[in-house]
Amino acid sequence: MEERTGIKSYVRRAGHISSAQQRAYTELSAQYALPFTQEALNFAAVFGNSNPVIIEIGFGMGAATVRIAQSNPSCNYLGIEVHKAGIGKLFLELEKHALHNVRCIEYDAVAALKSMIPDEGIAGFHIFFPDPWQKKRHHKRRLVTRPFTDLVAAKLQAGGYVYMVTDWLDYAWWAYRELSATPYLCNAFEGFAPAQEWRPRTRFEERALALNHEIRELYFLKH
Ligand SMILES: C[S@@+](CC[C@H](N)C(=O)[O-])C[C@H]1O[C@@H](n2cnc3c(N)ncnc32)[C@H](O)[C@@H]1O
Repeated sequence: MEERTGIKSYVRRAGHISSAQQRAYTELSAQYALPFTQEALNFAAVFGNSNPVIIEIGFGMGAATVRIAQSNPSCNYLGIEVHKAGIGKLFLELEKHALHNVRCIEYDAVAALKSMIPDEGIAGFHIFFPDPWQKKRHHKRRLVTRPFTDLVAAKLQAGGYVYMVTDWLDYAWWAYRELSATPYLCNAFEGFAPAQEWRPRTRFEERALALNHEIRELYFLKH
């Protein structure tokens, strides 16, 4: 998608980074970060086991990532994000909780998936509160759009899932249509999915709820 149009689904935020986040970003990258490469990753070598790998795109400050990884030590989690303060925060929490089942790629998820992720290598995708790009002229920047969803489908194992959550109704319907039109994906529920109890609340979700936005969940399976 990126190569075809040059359109990105994010803007790099200059944003404040705390000294603790900066320290973690600098000192812990060797432990938790995977540099961008043109070669597909060998997950057994990366994680030291053959557990299922779940990718989270756009983890923000990593709050959900950490809690989900803590609750599921028999899965591996690979977060993809471009926001440096969030990456530093994630590393801080991984260190604090001594978690060994999380790694991070600091890169555009579209390019990272294309280059680094083996086809049919992923058990699930988490996309929580992706940037909604509310204005009509910006809709083309929405991440959950074909052909990106085709790429996600190609990376999923049979039986794997893509789980998206948004508080932006127009984007929820947009993603519903895009995912429904993607070959090899099928809706696990009729319409939107029920709230998945195991998903922790994120900062964006708290903000959305404070604004009385309704949350919509989408859960599709690869067949
Ligand atoms: C609205 S925030 C939501 C963050 C978090 N999931 C939450 O719920 O709090 C969306 C995040 O996705 C990241 N993002 C958007 N497009 C991306 C891409 N193509 N590759 C990597 N990260 C991306 C942004 O940097 C941003 O941090």
